Amino acid sequence: MDNAMHELNALCAGCLDCELGKTRTKLVFGVGNASSPVMLIGEGPGEQEDLQGIPFVGRAGQLLDDMLKMIDLDRSRVYIANVVKCRPPKNRDPLPEEKAACEKWLRRQMEIVDPRIIICLGRIAATSIIDESFRITRQHGQWFDADGRRCLAIYHPSALLRDVTKRPETFTDLREIRSEIRRLCPEVYE
Ligand code: URA
Repeated sequence: MDNAMHELNALCAGCLDCELGKTRTKLVFGVGNASSPVMLIGEGPGEQEDLQGIPFVGRAGQLLDDMLKMIDLDRSRVYIANVVKCRPPKNRDPLPEEKAACEKWLRRQMEIVDPRIIICLGRIAATSIIDESFRITRQHGQWFDADGRRCLAIYHPSALLRDVTKRPETFTDLREIRSEIRRLCPEVYE
């Protein structure tokens, strides 16, 4: 499992299939347990991630770690990746052609991890994974099926930093995630 992921990472490291490859400092491939039944998918690297080459290491990442802790998880119990592996300039949303160019890497990561549960962090991941017309304000916290996997989206940690009024709903969503992981993948909590 981990070998396949390392090989994929090495292949991806040379990718120049979209413009983002030209401006990245480091590629941000993924982190965590590649054999976990739970996968988290974010949007794309920010400034700190671009510098360090690791997903979710900036302020949003600290909040994500706190959110995982709230439901008795940490990075070693899940696998974390992004829709795009290189930082969009000034943290703008990735363009359709950038998401399309990067999709093959995320799809291969999903094949290797083969998660039973996918948690989309924010709208960009939810529209890529669950449904292109996904509405995060209306549909966060609901379970969907995508290729036989249980998928749920929550607000992106950056959105929760900007707007603290979204936090109580997210806490409810996190509890829902914990109970579904306990039901479908109890080994995550062993
Ligand atoms: N935001 C994301 O969506 N992904 C990261 O890796 C960091 C911030």
